[in-house]
Amino acid sequence: MGSKILLDIFLNAIDERKDYFLKSLREESEIPKNFPDFKKNVHIYSHLDSDGLTSAAILAFALKRANISYQLSVLPQLETQYIKKIKDEIINYNRFIIFSDFGTGQLEFLKKDLGSSNYFILDHHQPENIKEHPDIFHVNPYYYDISGESEISAAGVCYFFAKALDPKNIDLSSLAIIGALGDMQNKGDKGGFIGANKIILDDAIKSGKISVERDISISRHQPLYIALAYSLPEKLPTLSGNEEKVKLFLKSLQIKIQDEWNEKRTLINLSTYEKKSLLKALISEGYERNDKSKDFAVKLITSYYNLSNFDPITDAKEMSKLLNACGRLGFPSLGISSLMGDKKSLRMAIEKNKLYKREISIAIRLAEQSIRNYKNINTLYNSEINEKIIGTICSIILHSKEELKEKPLIAFADSDNHSLKVSARADHELIKKGLNLGKILREVCQKMGIINPAGGHPPAAGAKIPSMNLKNFIEEVDKAAKID
Ligand code: C5P
Repeated sequence: MGSKILLDIFLNAIDERKDYFLKSLREESEIPKNFPDFKKNVHIYSHLDSDGLTSAAILAFALKRANISYQLSVLPQLETQYIKKIKDEIINYNRFIIFSDFGTGQLEFLKKDLGSSNYFILDHHQPENIKEHPDIFHVNPYYYDISGESEISAAGVCYFFAKALDPKNIDLSSLAIIGALGDMQNKGDKGGFIGANKIILDDAIKSGKISVERDISISRHQPLYIALAYSLPEKLPTLSGNEEKVKLFLKSLQIKIQDEWNEKRTLINLSTYEKKSLLKALISEGYERNDKSKDFAVKLITSYYNLSNFDPITDAKEMSKLLNACGRLGFPSLGISSLMGDKKSLRMAIEKNKLYKREISIAIRLAEQSIRNYKNINTLYNSEINEKIIGTICSIILHSKEELKEKPLIAFADSDNHSLKVSARADHELIKKGLNLGKILREVCQKMGIINPAGGHPPAAGAKIPSMNLKNFIEEVDKAAKID
């Protein structure tokens, strides 16, 4: 790396390519000029979900290629107890720290405990104050009026960073797409990407790692009749949840559910002709419903992102689910090694994913019996559900019934030291009306003097609270979630 400081390299590289997202960093005057030399050992700390693991893998690749030694740790969240340990690490081992997919929400604690050098943050969560860029090296899209919820994920921020370090890192773009899919950022037309993610996708296509395909929006890996019964983008009263009716429906279209070797067929196995007639029939079933049918027809087609280098996993969304499973089951290194090309890890990760799916379906059944209704929110708590999967369960339950989408769902799970992990989710219709769960949880925790900072995005946020504060916390969130 010579004696050049990282920031110089970074900013110069950005200057050269004028990337849509990062170009405004050039104008950033508050970034300290005395940015530390970046030759010492680096410790990457990243979040445990799919976006966090892809962020970690991108950074690990980029540092390895730049001959910078590094180590990597994955945390459920950057809690104050970890920040204290990291402080000791900086002092005792002279480490340089990179935080990815968290750090923004913990800014005040980082500044207080770690000062303003020896670390930087690559994150996409909404900062508390977007008008005031803190005087530390903190890359966050919100400072440039770019949404970290829909236009770029943490993996995307890490990708731009890697590309700025070395343009050859363009091949890491496919990992950033996997991360963005993990955070469900393909919310553009027909499951497409927008903003900075679109640039990353173009890089991934250019580097030959991803191809995009349009297809019917149901699971492509489950048997066709199961996929149609359970994974349509919106439920159809005539088919959803009823495998027998779906079988009859397919029979009427002369689409066989098994092939000549008695293997169950999936969407991928259908001919173009069969797909066309299936699509047509689904659209007319949608019209039968007589409500939002146009919306339904539009939602029936989505984009699939095919991966070329993770055989046997070919679908980027599936890869992102697999990573999430590894992170949440406590095997993040399997996920990261899979991303870094280790075939054995990938095989093991696939097995973990099967376990995870089983754990999720058991937890869903428990969760369904544990919902309580309040004025402006619904809550979910069951002591049998593990804190590592509570966020996923909260998302699934919220979207499982139309009536649940009318209020935010706040889920709780037992955590360490008599505390509760909080996961909050809200439907996009509420976000359009101005609800911001990240802000609500942050403000309620601040008001109640809860030490661990809460945070997140408008539709998905989290916190950690002392168990004894539960009742009061629910009351405060219920008040704050009122939409005028
Ligand atoms: O943990 P969970 O999946 O519910 O978190 C939802 C979102 O909120 C994630 O993007 C997570 O990174 C963020 N979060 C946060 N601060 C916390 C807890 C969660 O920014 N204390």
